[in-house]
Amino acid sequence: MRRKFIGGNWKMNKTPDQAKEFVISFVEKIKTIEGNSVDIALFPPFLALNVVKEYSGESRLIVGAQNMHYKDSGAFTGEISPVMLNSVGVNWVILGHSERRHIFRESNELINLKVKAALEHNFHVILCVGETEEERLTSKHYDVIKEQLESDLADIDAKGINNIVVAYEPVWAIGTGKTATPEDAEEMHRYIRRLFEGMYNSDIADKVRIIYGGSVKPANAKSLLVKEDIDGALVGGASLNPQSFFEIVNSVID
Ligand code: PGA
Repeated sequence: MRRKFIGGNWKMNKTPDQAKEFVISFVEKIKTIEGNSVDIALFPPFLALNVVKEYSGESRLIVGAQNMHYKDSGAFTGEISPVMLNSVGVNWVILGHSERRHIFRESNELINLKVKAALEHNFHVILCVGETEEERLTSKHYDVIKEQLESDLADIDAKGINNIVVAYEPVWAIGTGKTATPEDAEEMHRYIRRLFEGMYNSDIADKVRIIYGGSVKPANAKSLLVKEDIDGALVGGASLNPQSFFEIVNSVID
């Protein structure tokens, strides 16, 4: 059984004060969840990491970063390193988000360097992949996902894969209110699992968690999360409000 994973990606939203207010409320809500069947994570902006760590206290909340550089230190104006994140107790990171790929032009080669650095520093990585609308309409979506995964995970061995969660996030579904149908999402998740069988082995393919992202809301979460190969969700907009994020978390709990 793969444990479910629900992550909230706040993107460039919330000041430290707003983050504190959210966490105080959210931690109270998740106290009611029993058992260990779901990982719950928040990915706030860098400036709010400390406050989210502090106010999540001993709760089950995982706190991660939205991006990082692959070097430990150096002349990289505006960047944050794995060492810096570790120093505030953070060892989860989102890499390859489509906004990083498309707005900030991050290449598969750069993402691969970041994945390697993250694993060397014992991070857990949410590796995001996804096709654009045009790529889907021209039936290139499977090739695009294959290319992204093979390049982003180049030289990553089977042991490293234990620390990777794949997030399938079709670009056309992010922040648009358009969600992939549960059937389309499931089909891609199955395809990714089969790819892992070829790239690694069937045991790894079976164990790797593949989560869906793109306009996940309390109203549609359950229909996606009941699918066999959808192991959770990466949530943007709907994670900014403690109640709606909690409702999404709750939709994986029977
Ligand atoms: P969204 O974002 O839920 O606002 O579509 C998802 C994401 O970018 O991870």
